[in-house]
Amino acid sequence: MAHLLHIDSSARSTGSGSASRRLSAQYAEAWRAQNPDGTVTYRDVTADVPNLVSEHWVRGVFGPAEIHDARSHAAVSAAGELIAEVEAADVLALGVPVYNFSVPASFKAWIDQICMAGRTFSYTAQGPRGLLIGKKVVVLRSSGSDFSDPRFAPLDFHEPYIRGVLGFLGITDVEFISVNGMSEEQLAPHFEKATASIANAVGAVA
Ligand SMILES: Cc1cc2nc3c(=O)[nH]c(=O)nc-3n(C[C@H](O)[C@H](O)[C@H](O)COP(=O)(O)O)c2cc1C
Repeated sequence: MAHLLHIDSSARSTGSGSASRRLSAQYAEAWRAQNPDGTVTYRDVTADVPNLVSEHWVRGVFGPAEIHDARSHAAVSAAGELIAEVEAADVLALGVPVYNFSVPASFKAWIDQICMAGRTFSYTAQGPRGLLIGKKVVVLRSSGSDFSDPRFAPLDFHEPYIRGVLGFLGITDVEFISVNGMSEEQLAPHFEKATASIANAVGAVA
């Protein structure tokens, strides 16, 4: 049975106009329609911000067993729950706005928790190897600027960062569906295009 992990990270609620939440909800709805037997896990990393990397986490993940203690176990176990959600998913729908040319801090905190040596990537003689294989990610992105505009493109640290870190974890099937604009009027034509892209992404279009 197909499983979707749906994540949101905007500081705004849907009610106060979050475009990325609207877009990711639209994706999840289309995915459910296309996968009627599928299951969905939802996580809001802004409402429930993941732990930041702490000394306990570093000690638990990288330190020798002698220095592990209750707090390092707790930190690793909390990260492990987030990783298990990713491992269980076939598809991840990530609602991620652009904040200051990159991702929201809450989303970065989630990334920092799911990047765990020995669990989601490993070091080999040939270099690092991603262990999250066979997953598809759709990033539902909102921004004020249009990053296809050459004046803004060099400031786009959002898409290259997400592609880079997911690729490091073994996830290379990554699609971005973006809307941009600061008003409903500016956003409307992008949502129209995004609706068609979502239908394609969930396989609703032959
Ligand atoms: C803290 C903050 C930082 C932002 N930084 C950028 C930015 O660097 N580039 C940009 O194009 N838009 C930026 N924006 C605009 C948002 O990306 C845009 O309003 C987007 O729709 C926000 O996502 P949301 O609608 O899901 O809340 C920023 C907005 C906020 C609140």
